[in-house]
Amino acid sequence: MASNDSIKKTLLVAVTLCIVCALVVSGAAVLLKPAQVANKALDRKANILAAAGLLVPGESVESQFEQVTTRIVDLRTGEYSDEMPIEGFEQMRVAKNPATSIALGEDDQAKIKRRENFAMVYLIKDGDELQKIILPIRGYGLWSTLYGFLALESDFTTVAGLGFYEHGETPGLGGEVDNPRWKALWPGKEIYQDGNVAIDLVKGNVDESTPNASHKVDALSGATLTSRGIANLLQFWMGELGYQKFLENLRSGEA
Ligand SMILES: Cc1cc2nc3c(=O)[nH]c(=O)nc-3n(C[C@H](O)[C@H](O)[C@H](O)COP(=O)(O)O)c2cc1C
Repeated sequence: MASNDSIKKTLLVAVTLCIVCALVVSGAAVLLKPAQVANKALDRKANILAAAGLLVPGESVESQFEQVTTRIVDLRTGEYSDEMPIEGFEQMRVAKNPATSIALGEDDQAKIKRRENFAMVYLIKDGDELQKIILPIRGYGLWSTLYGFLALESDFTTVAGLGFYEHGETPGLGGEVDNPRWKALWPGKEIYQDGNVAIDLVKGNVDESTPNASHKVDALSGATLTSRGIANLLQFWMGELGYQKFLENLRSGEA
C-alpha cells in the first residue's frame, strides 16, 4: 500500500476534498435558490407597501399585500393591458428585450437606455374606489441605478410616499435616500402643475417661504449628483414617456 506521504495519495485527498466541497457549495446554492427568490419577492412586496405608507411592521407582509391589486399598463397607450401575463412578469426583462421596449436615445433623462412598453403597477382600492397607486421607477444617480417605488394619492399628483429598495450610492451621502427623515419629506408633495411635471429637488431647506414649495423637496446634503439623478428619474417617469398618459387616463376615467 502507498504511504500517506506519497504524491498519489496527497493528490487523491486534495481532489476528493475539492469535489466534496464543490458539491456542498453548489448543492447549497441550488437548494437555497427557491428561498432566495421567495425572499426577494417578499421584500419587493414590503417595499411596495412601505412606499404607500401602508407597511405595518411585525405583521405578515403576504397578508398585508392582499389589499394590493396588481395590473400591467401599456406605457405606449397609457391603458391597462392583458397582453402580458402578470404571473412571472419581470419588468427588467421586458425592458431589456428590444421587442418589448424602446431605445431612449436623447430622451434618456433617467439614464436607463431602454424603456419597457409594459409596467407593473399596484393599486390600493376601497371597494371599487382607487385610494393609492404605486409605480415602479428607476434611474441613474452618481454611482448606480436606483430602483424604487413612487406612491400617489387618488388625485394622481399628490405623493403618498417614495422609497428606493436597491442602489449603490455612498452611505451617508447619496445613500441618505434611505433615511426615514428624508423620505418623510415626500408625502404631500405634488408632481404636476398645470399638466406639466413640476417636482424637483433643490438645495437648502424647503419651507413655506420657498416659491412653489409643494413641488420642491430638499436635495440630499453633500449628494447633489444623486439628488439630480432622483429629480431626473422622477421627471422622466412622471412625464410623457413614463406614466403621464396612464395617469391622465385614470383621471379622466378612461384607463
Ligand atoms: C468617496 C466619495 C463618495 C461620494 N458619493 C456620492 C454620492 O453617493 N452621491 C453624490 O451625489 N455625491 C457623492 N460624492 C460627492 C460628489 O463627488 C460631489 O462632490 C457632490 O455630489 C457635490 O455635492 P454638494 O454640492 O452637495 O457638496 C462622493 C464623493 C466622494 C469623494
